[in-house]
Amino acid sequence: MTVDELPLRFPFSQRGDEVPAECDWLRTNRPVARVVTLAGDEAWLVTSHELCDQVLTDTRFSLHATADDGVPQQYARAFPPDAVSNMANITSAGLRSEVMKSLSPRGNDQLTRFLQTTAGELLDKAVAEGSPADLWSDYASPLSTRLMVEILGLSDADDARLARCSDVAMGTSAYTPDEAARNWDELRAVMATALRPDRTAAGLLPRLAALREDRPQDGLTEAQLCDVGCNLMVAGYESLAAFLGHAIMLLARDPEATARLRETPALMPQAIEELYRRNLSIGDALPRLATADVQLGDTLVAAGSLVLVCVEGANHDPAVFPDAERLDLDRAANPHLTFGGGRHYCPATSLSRLHAHIGLETLLTRLPKLVMACPARELIWSWGMIKRLPKALPVEL
Ligand code: HEM
Repeated sequence: MTVDELPLRFPFSQRGDEVPAECDWLRTNRPVARVVTLAGDEAWLVTSHELCDQVLTDTRFSLHATADDGVPQQYARAFPPDAVSNMANITSAGLRSEVMKSLSPRGNDQLTRFLQTTAGELLDKAVAEGSPADLWSDYASPLSTRLMVEILGLSDADDARLARCSDVAMGTSAYTPDEAARNWDELRAVMATALRPDRTAAGLLPRLAALREDRPQDGLTEAQLCDVGCNLMVAGYESLAAFLGHAIMLLARDPEATARLRETPALMPQAIEELYRRNLSIGDALPRLATADVQLGDTLVAAGSLVLVCVEGANHDPAVFPDAERLDLDRAANPHLTFGGGRHYCPATSLSRLHAHIGLETLLTRLPKLVMACPARELIWSWGMIKRLPKALPVEL
């Protein structure tokens, strides 16, 4: 690659089995590089750990402003512009503590048991159907929808429908604005079914409905509460399922690391951090809009520019992670940016770590063999989505 080829088109690849070569090249040669987005607009792509961290923590780079009219766009959004500021909206509506209660599983033994039982049942079914199993549609995807159904308090929800609606909302270009709006309405209608006031419910939506009844002065609307559910469903399901799928692929490709993890289960928390670092599920970059002229490394980024934080670039930066392509279960310091950083740092990290721990522990306990049924380079990845999701994950049991 040469500088004459700049600006490059971004994203570089939908493949989740290898870090795009452009990431290393840019980090070395142009850690702040001009790229053209899927929407055809120009942006600055940032690939080093240090500069990605700077963008995420410097409040002059705004996530909220990426939804303003007339600013450069990353892709055609298939969710309402308001959803960009979902946590800020939750906070300004006075719902933050109720939402955070749902996203914080500490001491919630019932949720732990729910995840263990669900993971066990899904794997028993996959084993009964015989090898190879598709651990995407039989495991990573339904375990993640069911956790979100439980968290939100949706009863009788249809896993496949929720996954499909979430996938559409995460689309980058495949849907017309009408199709995207219809999809969001469908998801809202599912959320509305759970908005029946229940002050003691474990799930979030019935508790929010009760709160609405108790605080009429706040003027909370049904649409607003449905949107809280939709946003959490989409962000939660897509992130959990994509990560678990990638983590399974990384372990199934690395028998040595998997054997070590089976022998030493106490390594699991550290292994999960390394899987968070090494996986490529985030796919597209985290967008910010510069609200002032800001010096970023050697580049002066002008106010109004779109800046894209390339998490996989940061997470594979050899200056911070020696031998970065290796899944190193002994890596002690692991300041990966998989949950973002700064004011938009993911609010659901404990819930995600619990899901990862139980999801992987159950897999290693129930499946004596865990190897890919095809070379990872032959996996097919979903096209036109913010996240990188495998279409299938065939694994020998
Ligand atoms: C492995 C699982 C997960 C990963 C890798 C992940 C990753 C991320 C990242 C990178 C961000 C920052 C986005 C940005 O800065 O632009 C974020 C924010 C967010 N995540 Fe997660 N997430 C995960 C699970 C979840 C779950 C389970 C939920 C909800 C149930 C969730 C809800 C959110 C919300 C609401 C935000 C926005 C925070 C804000 O703007 O203040 N995430 N997540």
